[in-house]
Amino acid sequence: MNSAELVREAWLEATAEYDSIPFFSAIANGNFTANHYAMLLREIYHNTHENPEAFARMTGLLRGDQRKLNKKILRHSWQESGHDQMALDDLARLGYDPGAARDGRALWATEAFTAFTSFQMERRNPLAFLGYVYHLENVATSWGPKLGRCLHSLGIRPEAMSFLMEHSEADITHVKFNEEYFRELVTQEKDLEDVLYGLRGAVRLYSLMLQSVIDAVDQGWPEWRALDGTFRKTAVPTCP
Ligand SMILES: [Fe+2]
Repeated sequence: MNSAELVREAWLEATAEYDSIPFFSAIANGNFTANHYAMLLREIYHNTHENPEAFARMTGLLRGDQRKLNKKILRHSWQESGHDQMALDDLARLGYDPGAARDGRALWATEAFTAFTSFQMERRNPLAFLGYVYHLENVATSWGPKLGRCLHSLGIRPEAMSFLMEHSEADITHVKFNEEYFRELVTQEKDLEDVLYGLRGAVRLYSLMLQSVIDAVDQGWPEWRALDGTFRKTAVPTCP
C-alpha cells in the first residue's frame, strides 16, 4: 500500500466508533436540536478561523523537495479562507448575534483540538498537520450529509447551512488533494508515523469537541448561555 492508502486505512480504523459517539448518536436518535447546531457553528468558527494560516505556515516549515507541492497546498489554503465567516453568517441566519460567537473564547476542547495540530506541526513534524486536515475533510464528506438531513428535518433553512453544504461538496475534491500530498510527500517511515499520530489525535480531539458542543447546550455552560441570550435579538436576513 502507498502512504495515501495507509492513511485512509488508519482513518477508517480511528473513526470506526464515530457513529456511536454522543454527537452522532443524538442525530441518529432524534435528540439533536437547533440549539446544538448553533453551538456547533460557534465552535466551527473558532476552529476554522485558524486553519488557512496554519495550512500556509506548514508550507514555510517544509524543506527541500518537500516544497514541490507548495503551490497546490497554498491554493488549497486559499480555498479554505473565509469559511469561518460562513459559520458566523449561518449563525446570523439562525437568528443569533454572530459577534457573541466571534468575541467569545472557544470551548476548551475546541482549543485543544486546534492547538494540538499546531504543536505537532511546529514542534514535531510539519507534515503531521496533514493528518488533521485529512480528518476534517473526510468527516465533512462522510457525516456532513447526515447532519444536513437532520437539520432539514428540524426546519432549518438551507441559507443557514452554507458552511455544511460547502464542505459536504468541496471536500470531496480536497480529500483527493490530500491523497496526493501523502503519496508525494510522505515517503519516509518516520513521516508516516508522525502523520498517523497527528491524524489519530485529531480524530479523538474532534470527538471531544463534538461532545463538548452537546454538553454545553444540555448542561447550560456559560458559552452557550452567552450565545443563546442573543437569539432573535438581531435582524434575521431573508437572503444570503
Ligand atoms: Fe476543505
